[in-house]
Amino acid sequence: MTLFYQKSVILNVVKDLFLIKKMAKIRPECNRMGLSLLKTAKSVILSETKELLCKKPAILASGNWTVEIIGKYSRLAGLTFFFSGINGEQSRTNGVKPMARRKITVVGAGNVGATTAFLAAYQQLGDIVLIDIVKGLAEGKALDMAQASSLCGYDCKITGTTDWSATADSDIVIITSGLPRKPGMSRDDLLAKNTDIVKSVTGQVVRYSLESFIIVVCNPLDAMTNAAAMISGFANNKVMGMAGVLDAARFAYFVSEKLGINPADVDCLLLGGHGDEMLPLPRFTTVGGKALTELLDEKTIEEIVQRTKMGGIEVVNLMGTSAFYAPAAGAVKMAKAIINDEKAMLPCCVYCDKEYDVGGYFVGVPAVLGAGGVEKVVELDLNETEKKELAVSVGHVKELVDKVREMI
Ligand SMILES: NC(=O)c1ccc[n+]([C@@H]2O[C@H](COP(=O)([O-])OP(=O)(O)OC[C@H]3O[C@@H](n4cnc5c(N)ncnc54)[C@H](O)[C@@H]3O)[C@@H](O)[C@H]2O)c1
Repeated sequence: MTLFYQKSVILNVVKDLFLIKKMAKIRPECNRMGLSLLKTAKSVILSETKELLCKKPAILASGNWTVEIIGKYSRLAGLTFFFSGINGEQSRTNGVKPMARRKITVVGAGNVGATTAFLAAYQQLGDIVLIDIVKGLAEGKALDMAQASSLCGYDCKITGTTDWSATADSDIVIITSGLPRKPGMSRDDLLAKNTDIVKSVTGQVVRYSLESFIIVVCNPLDAMTNAAAMISGFANNKVMGMAGVLDAARFAYFVSEKLGINPADVDCLLLGGHGDEMLPLPRFTTVGGKALTELLDEKTIEEIVQRTKMGGIEVVNLMGTSAFYAPAAGAVKMAKAIINDEKAMLPCCVYCDKEYDVGGYFVGVPAVLGAGGVEKVVELDLNETEKKELAVSVGHVKELVDKVREMI
């Protein structure tokens, strides 16, 4: 509420500034007068937005807050020229709005987080902020990645920090902070601890990046995505979880191994929660337009389906902790689809109400991701068996979400 009010105040000031701009056009020789009016406008903005600024310690801490706030709203009104004048600089953009780089925050600089940051940098998705609670960890990894810039050919800014103010105004926040599984553990065993972490992290996202998209990665994935949505209060299209892309990639890889083809040529779909009840869909999986069911026998398909469902624990049992290369690649694929407005159909954990009769929870379904975040949920024509299996998987997600509700 307060924020809307303050925005409207600022926009009124900006309207006044338009008048000043007009006047300066008519009488450009009135430079001094224009400047004094602008200074007045500046002080109005400063006093009127005091409360807003209190909520933005990032900007305050930068010591450059007048410029930040004015810059932000002046760009709205195309007034870059005037404000660069106020700060005693010549406009370098000559009135042309510079193209801003995207800002991606990766929370958690562990295995998944650091790999996500590296892949996002490698694909030049934007400037990266890597944040962790362990002092030095994110800083060290970010510095290491930055030092690889000339070798890898990326030139984005990579910052490592423990300070949330550095994440301010991120476009996308990828939450990987959370305990990973150890052998013998299920994803659900992480529920209590990771709910705490998601709670505190999402609070910071709201504080510093109110306009961002959130991609949740930590487990149990569906429950943590629901938690991030509940805590943030963000619109449903702005919160999503990464698991389906990973599970589909695993499925595609196992199929490609059997058929001796490129995994990228396997188009996979799957539904449901990121757990043992996930639902890989052989009927909707195609290779060169042919359904998998025409290419492999039932027994082989069942083996692949089971191996996909157990894809996570297979890796955990081999190396003692959860996978991170493929999960990070999945998170980056989703971020890229949003940043580049790809309208890519990807299986991910998104809000479904009437869709698939879910009834208002975030669960894994195919969705179209683009500049608007989750732009559409794609409904498949499921048969009775698939519907029943999906209902079991969604039921399990609901049970976990109910527990999460009690914890937050
Ligand atoms: N969705 C998926 O498909 C998928 C796949 C693999 C792993 N995961 C999950 O991702 C999470 C991370 O896995 P990992 O292997 O990178 O674990 P990790 O232990 O290597 O890294 C987690 C990092 O989070 C940090 N952290 C903890 N609390 C924090 C907080 N409040 N703020 C900032 N940072 C904080 C830790 O210090 C640690 O560095 C786990 O929950 C794991 O189960 C999900």
